[in-house]
Amino acid sequence: MNKISPSVMCFDMMNLKKQIQQLDDAGVDLYHVDVMDGHYVPNHALSSDLVREITKVSKTPVDVHLMVTNPGVFIDAYANAGASIIVMHVEALDHPIRALKQIRALGKKAGLAVSPATSIDGFKYMLDFLDIVCVMTVDPGFAGQTLIPSTLEKIKELRDMFDAAGKDIDIMVDGQVKEETAPNLVKAGANVLVVGSSGLFSHPPEEYKQVISMYQNITK
Ligand code: DX5
Ligand code: ZN
Repeated sequence: MNKISPSVMCFDMMNLKKQIQQLDDAGVDLYHVDVMDGHYVPNHALSSDLVREITKVSKTPVDVHLMVTNPGVFIDAYANAGASIIVMHVEALDHPIRALKQIRALGKKAGLAVSPATSIDGFKYMLDFLDIVCVMTVDPGFAGQTLIPSTLEKIKELRDMFDAAGKDIDIMVDGQVKEETAPNLVKAGANVLVVGSSGLFSHPPEEYKQVISMYQNITK
């Protein structure tokens, strides 16, 4: 089954705790916390304090997507706040393997995010240090964007790379994942779906369980 991670930046910010309870009841697998520093991307978003608060009210693991300059300096803060998965942009790292090892040393799952225009050529050298790769299907920084079709080929190339190496590495997709786009994303090799403004919160809460189950059961 696919793992479904609702994007917290798309939540009803005036009813966060209620939204968490609704989504826990709907059987989500993760919560996707986007962190933006206004420098690496031209926007601000969530923080380690929010991660800590989420872990106080829910047992659902939190995956953190660091869209920040010099992400290595934030690893400890998000690990200590209770994140289960920490994903950094490969474009923002001088020494990605060192940063991935730092995350794993803290007992967390380690990942890299890759923006639409970025090549995955170097990933073949990092397979021993990766638990997950987040393929951005939109340029990072904003919800509600349109999926960039060329990213589908990148997902397939990554899945083929992992399979050839015998590596069971998750592929997360992030950006306009919705009913119309999810089947092709899963077919290409994605198995962790970040759902936000278009894919989940366009539905009323009473439909969350059915929508989450639909995404979980999309097959390749
Ligand atoms: C954008 C974030 C995404 C975004 C997804 O940079 O990484 O997680 O919230 O939202 P939608 O599904 O609306 O594209
Ligand atoms: Zn994200």
